[in-house]
Amino acid sequence: MTAPSRQKTLYAIFGNPINHSISPVIHNAALKNAKINGIYAAFKTETAQDAVKMIKELDIAGASITIPHKTDIIKYIDKIGETAKEIGAVNTVINENGLLFGTNTDAGGAIKALLQHTEIENKNIAILGAGGAARAVIYGVNFKKGKVTLLNRTVDKGEKLAKEFNVNFMPLSEINSEIKKHKFEIIINTTSLGMKGCEDQSPIKKESLNKDIIVMDIIYNPLKTKLLKYAEEKGCKTINGVSMLVYQAALQFELFVGIQAPIDIMKKAAEAALPAS
Ligand code: ATR
Repeated sequence: MTAPSRQKTLYAIFGNPINHSISPVIHNAALKNAKINGIYAAFKTETAQDAVKMIKELDIAGASITIPHKTDIIKYIDKIGETAKEIGAVNTVINENGLLFGTNTDAGGAIKALLQHTEIENKNIAILGAGGAARAVIYGVNFKKGKVTLLNRTVDKGEKLAKEFNVNFMPLSEINSEIKKHKFEIIINTTSLGMKGCEDQSPIKKESLNKDIIVMDIIYNPLKTKLLKYAEEKGCKTINGVSMLVYQAALQFELFVGIQAPIDIMKKAAEAALPAS
């Protein structure tokens, strides 16, 4: 007896934990809208190696890779793109007839989210945080020739990252006093301050903000972080975390299926799946 052939092309996200991921909601909305006979599933995997094994065994056509596998997966895939190599993280894997190609759409997603509201070139941009997400954001903003100052709580970690990407560094504790002095035009939070579980924390005091600053938070749960609430109250233009999340997913979708992503559909699906605050 021959095995039944699969009706749908399979796409998936791999991470741990994964049960709160809204990537399936975003990607399935896009697949449905584009009338593609595919389905996007979520798999919890303990290791990056397990994820690679599953991609190959289940013949998954395209995969999103999330925390904690974005760096580890590099050793198990066959090819890696230049952007992913420089960021040091893969968030997208394309299965090219059994050969796995890793790339990164986080940097592109961050840039697209920003470019909806502002130019980047020559802008004074403060990036808060020095974790994995910060690496992609710094890479993207550097690529678009923004003038980056990186601020982080742990000084040696921040200094190391700033050196690697050739940007300025300042301790995060100085952000409130330094905003005016450095004339930051854009502030991007990549720290976990304000995330579900610590919703009432903000890396910046309300009184330190002014209406000329564009404030972006990459946290998407809650949609409106304390920082974004402060920014709104001060009259700042704000960009919430759904923007970067959706644009990085849209870039993945385009790599997976080769057609333009239905951004508005993906954004609506994401917003409907998230609590407002
Ligand atoms: P991700 O991969 O999502 O970027 P991460 O690598 O754990 O997550 O990085 C989290 C970032 O949030 C770090 O910059 C961290 O600062 P430290 O390097 O000092 O740890 C920052 N962060 C987390 N909790 C924080 C807090 N209470 N105050 C300030 N920064 C915090």
